Amino acid sequence: MKIFSLSDKTILITGASSGIGKEASIFISQAGGTVFITGRDEERLRETFDRLEGAGHGMKTADLTVEREMEALIGELPPLNGIVHCAGIVGPLPVKFILQEHIDRMFSINYIVPVNLTGKLLRKKKIVEGASILFMSTIATKNPYFGGALYSGSKAALEAYAKTLALEQVGKGIRANCLMAGLVDTPMIESPSEEAMQEEALERYLKRYPLGVGKPEDVAGAILYFLSDASTWVSGTTLILGGE
Ligand SMILES: NC(=O)c1ccc[n+]([C@@H]2O[C@H](COP(=O)([O-])OP(=O)(O)OC[C@H]3O[C@@H](n4cnc5c(N)ncnc54)[C@H](OP(=O)(O)O)[C@@H]3O)[C@@H](O)[C@H]2O)c1
Repeated sequence: MKIFSLSDKTILITGASSGIGKEASIFISQAGGTVFITGRDEERLRETFDRLEGAGHGMKTADLTVEREMEALIGELPPLNGIVHCAGIVGPLPVKFILQEHIDRMFSINYIVPVNLTGKLLRKKKIVEGASILFMSTIATKNPYFGGALYSGSKAALEAYAKTLALEQVGKGIRANCLMAGLVDTPMIESPSEEAMQEEALERYLKRYPLGVGKPEDVAGAILYFLSDASTWVSGTTLILGGE
């Protein structure tokens, strides 16, 4: 069905070298979209690139917390019909151990990067009228977990930003929405620092979310909807994925 097709759209996906961003990139290409993918790890980014369907896609490695690397990426980008901001980190830390450097690190990639990248792209007129911008938040902004203050805080800030962006860009038909995902099985939740908490929290978590742990493709499906013309009338929302 045409309104669900992405065949006339070019989409930038950050965090495309892993997890949700990787799956979303592949899905978008399968739906006919042209993608420009970015991540830090060249080998894993190349793996994503090699799995894309169709032609005309682009890729560039960049640590987006480094200004000149973000600028170099922007310089290579074509006009965009959509952006999926997937780059992000997690890192559990009880509140009494939080130091300035932890705040800086978490907010740098989870909040400052998507805000700066979006602003720069708007100023350079690389985001076309009617484009769709998506941000990745977490269900933890509503349901706190031990050690999640910084992660949830960075994502709650992003949700507020996305709603304001939606309001300010409505005149150009540019939409902004957030996906508030429950636990998704990606390398992010397999990192050693996460393991202890996972073991402890998983049973409780599964009771709270009967749909269980998600897969990257569960999120990618929702991403396709928000990028497509099927969601033209949807902006400033936060969609919960994973049930509650
Ligand atoms: N997994 C979950 O349970 C879950 C739930 C809710 C929301 N989310 C959110 O969904 C998004 C994707 O998560 P995921 O689970 O797919 O994570 P992931 O598999 O760990 O992937 C994270 C991606 O972010 C990139 N990245 C990290 N720091 C970066 C930097 N400084 N510059 C550029 N890229 C950077 C990584 O690049 P490299 O690997 O190349 O370094 C990687 O591609 C994140 O924003 C996350 O917070 C995840």
